[in-house]
Amino acid sequence: MNQDQLKQLVGRAALDYVTPGQIIGVGTGSTVDCFIDALAGSGIAVAGAVSSSERSTQRLRQHGIPVLDAAEVSGLTVYIDGADEIDSNGYMVKGGGAALTREKIVADLADKFVCIADASKLVQTLGKFPLPVEVIPMAAAQLARRFAALGGTATLRAGVVTDNSCHILDVTGLAITDPLAFEAEVTLWPGVVTVGVFARNKAQVCLLGGADGVRTLS
Ligand code: 5RP
Repeated sequence: MNQDQLKQLVGRAALDYVTPGQIIGVGTGSTVDCFIDALAGSGIAVAGAVSSSERSTQRLRQHGIPVLDAAEVSGLTVYIDGADEIDSNGYMVKGGGAALTREKIVADLADKFVCIADASKLVQTLGKFPLPVEVIPMAAAQLARRFAALGGTATLRAGVVTDNSCHILDVTGLAITDPLAFEAEVTLWPGVVTVGVFARNKAQVCLLGGADGVRTLS
């Protein structure tokens, strides 16, 4: 199976976590696109979805799935999203699609984060994938200096303005050995909107697609 087929496989597998009649949280990315398509074709009628990006909102609406504002719900039973990296504890790096801030907001509303990914995303230590950090534009240079002090190299993602009118720094050269402490520290830096380490909002379940099918880590 190629990577696209693995994404379709885990997109379909995530349907097991969707209860008809409920409002679900929906992430962003090519794997989530597969989930949205699978949901639309499944006959499972959800009451609606809270979406983490304009991209997913468009796709949900194209399929006739109602999209609700985050402010309209007080909680969600489940949030389904992909990841750029995930470790065996469910800690993730996210934001390759620049949607990390809304992803963290919707994840925070949910009782359970179900991560869907192909097996190449499973790592021992987070940090090989360039860490996305959404920043207020005027803070970008100072934040790059702060990451340099940690041994990282921050590069402004060219031509990208997020759904929140902010910029993305991609940081290479970090080995994130304590994701909870790292997320807590970087979140405090002035000008950081969201750091792409999802440790506090980690995945409770990960559906990993590989040659042998779907493996569930929980
Ligand atoms: C978007 C994300 C995505 O979940 C992550 O980039 C994985 O994307 P894909 O499913 O396309 O590999 O965090 O901001």
